[in-house]
Amino acid sequence: MAHSVRVFPTREALAQTIAAILIKDLDRIEPDHFYSIALSGGSTPEYIFQYLSDNYAGRISWEKLLVFWGDERCVPPEDKESNYRMAYENLLQNVPIPDANVFRIRGEDDPEVEARQYAGLVSSMVPFFNGIPQFDLMFLGLGDDGHTASIFPDRPDLFTTTQLFEVAVKPGTRQKRITVTGKLINNSSKIYFIVTGKGKTSIVAEIIEGRSGPDRYPAAKVNPGSGHIVWMLDSEASSMLKK
Ligand code: 6PG
Repeated sequence: MAHSVRVFPTREALAQTIAAILIKDLDRIEPDHFYSIALSGGSTPEYIFQYLSDNYAGRISWEKLLVFWGDERCVPPEDKESNYRMAYENLLQNVPIPDANVFRIRGEDDPEVEARQYAGLVSSMVPFFNGIPQFDLMFLGLGDDGHTASIFPDRPDLFTTTQLFEVAVKPGTRQKRITVTGKLINNSSKIYFIVTGKGKTSIVAEIIEGRSGPDRYPAAKVNPGSGHIVWMLDSEASSMLKK
């Protein structure tokens, strides 16, 4: 897996780099074209979204973005658990992105029905590559159990399924989720893992240094055909990586 690792001294520096990447990529988009992005949930994106709102609301061509999600909790959009609500409150309501460019996963609907509906929506809105929709950029988080999106270690089938979105269950809480599958993840043009905090130190080192083996952790199975995968870490999350 050809990947690069970028370590930032602070979450602010990481957020600034995300902004610079978006500015650069969006400036390259041809007129009447869009940049399809898949967001993840979690605490790190929450900080980044708020930072972009506070500092880049008028400096990024937001209208060129089409916003999707890699996963969603099966709750209504107003629920505090909702990834859509987190993105809306911290970013989408603060920047000039047209509502028509935002495609939330309907967590309030029947999960199996919505997984199929959302796969159809993504297929109708996102350009194809290799016969599969290809996100220009997918953000992924990393759980300390090695999950990514809502693909947990008990569901290796989510990296072999032919579906683009499936229903998963978070171990422990048994909360239902709708998640992107490995098929769609690994067709992305660019993947950025955004991982911060000392709680991720060990799992980050295990996965990046290939010590876990490809079958133990879902995040270790992320291997886009484009080869463009960047681990964006803060100094805490990266502290066990071999220098
Ligand atoms: C979710 C995310 C999930 C998250 C990781 C890391 O819906 O919760 O998609 O995969 O990215 O659990 O979360 P933190 O950044 O909060 O550690």
